[in-house]
Amino acid sequence: MAQLWKGRFKKELAKETNDFNSSISFDSKMFEEDIKGSIAHAAMLGKAGIIDKSESEKIVAELAVILDDIKSGKLNIDMQSEDIHTFVEGELTSRLGDTGKRLHTARSRNDQVALDIRLYLKKEAETIIGMLKRLVLVLCDKAGANKNTIMPGYTHLQRAQPITFGHHLMAYAAMLLRDIERLEDACARMNVLPLGSGALAGTTYPIDRGFVADYLGFDSVSQNSLDGVSDRDFCLELASALSIVMVHLSRFSEEIIMWCSWEFKFVELDDAFSTGSSIMPQKKNPDIAELVRGKSGRVFGNLTALLTVMKGIPLAYNKDMQEDKEAVFDSVETVKMCLNAFTPMIETMTVLKDNMRAAAAKGFINATDCADYLVGKGLPFRDAYKATGELVALCIDKGLTLETLPLEDYKAVCALFDEGVYTAINLEKCVNDRLSEGGPSPQSVMKQIEFAKNKINAE
Ligand code: ARG
Repeated sequence: MAQLWKGRFKKELAKETNDFNSSISFDSKMFEEDIKGSIAHAAMLGKAGIIDKSESEKIVAELAVILDDIKSGKLNIDMQSEDIHTFVEGELTSRLGDTGKRLHTARSRNDQVALDIRLYLKKEAETIIGMLKRLVLVLCDKAGANKNTIMPGYTHLQRAQPITFGHHLMAYAAMLLRDIERLEDACARMNVLPLGSGALAGTTYPIDRGFVADYLGFDSVSQNSLDGVSDRDFCLELASALSIVMVHLSRFSEEIIMWCSWEFKFVELDDAFSTGSSIMPQKKNPDIAELVRGKSGRVFGNLTALLTVMKGIPLAYNKDMQEDKEAVFDSVETVKMCLNAFTPMIETMTVLKDNMRAAAAKGFINATDCADYLVGKGLPFRDAYKATGELVALCIDKGLTLETLPLEDYKAVCALFDEGVYTAINLEKCVNDRLSEGGPSPQSVMKQIEFAKNKINAE
């Protein structure tokens, strides 16, 4: 396949050079964006009188046909091309002759590729935002159904205080809502047209960048041609936002994996979203959650790769920057794959409420409430804390819980105790009374659900 830059070269390109230099194996993904960008550019060239109107119209029409032909499978992208830009321009020229050769007037592949990546990533980020919204809505539904499901809340993976499963799920919903915001933010900054920056120093042609920006749906045009072609901070920002999505999905996966173990047995995954073992007939494994946890590594790796590629490049374009695409595309594909399996896994999992309730009853998670009861009787909190600590030690010695410890034992530690303590440490009451804003009470969980749904529906 011919190169676009043949003129000054006396020799044919070595195969090794083409194989190493070519980016078509990964930038062919952007064929639609490349063609749409070229359509906008050609329309602008005609409108600004840089090329003949009739030639501009021919180019625009033929590019649309090329797009259809690729989509329908009539035209195969030549994988020997240097890149997708070379392929599209070559195909256009083979169809239109000299008219096709006019397309690249007042343009460089440097501003062209900067445009294509922005268009492509904007579309992909929007798809991921949609997938995250769906997961948040699934969490809202599950949380609503479990607003009264008591479970132990943990710190240090030690049973700490009573919460509900609904509250626990809504913590992830809150994280994912911020992920959505981060992606929207990244999209807004991506929405700036770099085309018209030329190779690095703009152009002498009377181009109309505003026209191209409107044509392609950009909010504005980049303000510095060197910056327009040579920064990839929008890739870094997306890769970073996607890394944070993966941190959240990975933590959630870790919990799912623990909850599926016989040691916890808080949830049971649907058979359709679990896998078995080739040797151990009893096994039902949470492979989806494990893979999501594992795949976070490659997404973080992509971010590190991108940061490293960019950190030492002098202005403006350098070929190092071709390395941007594989990394950020892989992050996009990985996050989509993960969400595609993770969301229905959560949607279909069974919550084993009795097991959660039983675990909540065993770990003295109402000890703070017991201390608060004494505070209610007038004892300073620090003294109430100490008395309750002694009670917990006594329970452990006697193999009892705060619920089953006889009142005489309570009274022996602190005379302020009476029968009312058993009501005060009742887990349902402990949860229902945690009415503080953002707390685990059923009312608070319902408020959180409403907030999340409103946020999603507002967009
Ligand atoms: N394939 C190249 C890339 O992805 C396109 C830009 C080529 N520009 C150049 N000056 N060689 O970065």
